[in-house]
Amino acid sequence: MTGTRRRLDDTLGEVLARRKTLNRLRKLSNTPANFIDFSSNGYLSLSTNPEIQKSLLSRLQAEVATSEDSNGSRNARRSLLGSGGSRLLDGNSPFAESLEAKIASFHGAEAALLFTSAYDANTGLLGSVPQPGDVILYDELIHASVHDGMRMSRATRRIPFAHSSISEAQQGRVANTKESRAASGSKNQGLDHVLRELAKDERVTNCQANVFICVEGLYSMDGDTILLKEIVETVDRYLPSGNGYVIVDEAHSVGVFGKDGRGLVCQLGLEDRIWARVLGFGKAMGCAGGVVLCSSITRSYLINYARSLIYTTSMTFTSLASIDVVYDFLISGQSEPLRRHLETLIYYTRHQLHTLYTRLKPNRDTLYVEQTTLKSPIIPILTASPRSLAEHCQRFGFMVRPIVSPTVPLGSERVRVCLHYSNTKEQVDELCSVIEVWVKSQMAEVMPQENTESHKKVTEITDGFIKEDKPRL
Ligand SMILES: Cc1ncc(COP(=O)(O)O)c(C=O)c1O
Repeated sequence: MTGTRRRLDDTLGEVLARRKTLNRLRKLSNTPANFIDFSSNGYLSLSTNPEIQKSLLSRLQAEVATSEDSNGSRNARRSLLGSGGSRLLDGNSPFAESLEAKIASFHGAEAALLFTSAYDANTGLLGSVPQPGDVILYDELIHASVHDGMRMSRATRRIPFAHSSISEAQQGRVANTKESRAASGSKNQGLDHVLRELAKDERVTNCQANVFICVEGLYSMDGDTILLKEIVETVDRYLPSGNGYVIVDEAHSVGVFGKDGRGLVCQLGLEDRIWARVLGFGKAMGCAGGVVLCSSITRSYLINYARSLIYTTSMTFTSLASIDVVYDFLISGQSEPLRRHLETLIYYTRHQLHTLYTRLKPNRDTLYVEQTTLKSPIIPILTASPRSLAEHCQRFGFMVRPIVSPTVPLGSERVRVCLHYSNTKEQVDELCSVIEVWVKSQMAEVMPQENTESHKKVTEITDGFIKEDKPRL
């Protein structure tokens, strides 16, 4: 290695060391196979669903057989592994186009355009559509991919609004109480206020500037949904000429909400009032990729200007086939029993966790679980010591993750519990017992002793997977 290269490595090393002292160093880790998953985003457990796996394999085998029938010609053989290029060059296929038509029809959209990820879909959409003079309003907790898209865009202004709030009166949902917002230093106003101010700008009222409003259907950190109908009405009220365009990122809500998992927009019947939707296939849908649902004109525009579509190799046949078999599963109604089980589990887990909180009455720095009727599989357990709680749960074989600043605002750190179709009530009970031990140890300011009743209980209920050498992740 040359001296210059070593110097750069030294600089990078210093940056990492600083990050480590701030307790923010990121590392790759592997989840041991015997851990119970309360962490991944595969809410419907579709990627391990035997029916779906079988369908995918037979689809791939059928494709190989079709290729073999083509007189042995090497050129006629279809590629399962790679698509051969950008969608605009050799990477397009009738299969990709028919899948887009199927997806659009299922979600009640005019058109759909596939991207290799929802990240690319967001950067492609936001990076290309807003023009100089335009304004982007965004929920302050919007996903990083929307931020990156906004940075690429030529919009003149980007204005955050308070998470999931329309007016001051509606503020105060999970981790967004006035106190926690004050603690986090968030000074953002509700959407109502931001739009009222914007409506004073003549370029906006004269429709010389477009206003894009970006929200998520289900927030991955708070596990809350938005008041989408009210947002649409508020946008219409302040921008009556129709230059307010709502974009909903449904990465986490597709598969979970709406009939057969059509998503939040469909559940609320707002298909015609949302300008664009971004869906992700990497969460509840159990595969990978993303799609923009929009008008046919917008689709053509994106094909021309979305850099994350144009300058990348398009999805492989195998990826397209995975998405296709998952949609067939949803369209045939087979995901409904899974969603019903998940809903029962969500209700049960929220109840158990809240009961634990009210029974133990820890101070809010130790643990806080909000009482809600949200039908979301993401449940935040607020705590000022998320790493300690997560490590404790992991030691007992439960994979939950600590979520810390800057991913969430300071003062709203948490452990996130994600529920899946494959989880059971027994697993939830075990997790609650493990959490209880930790809370009691925090309240007593000592770590649990082996001979305490609560420790015995955990040992019993987790029997079978506590191992001395279980790695502390
Ligand atoms: C809200 C939201 N949008 C977009 C993405 C990006 O999804 P993908 O993994 O498909 O790139 C994520 C992923 O974490 C997300 O949470």
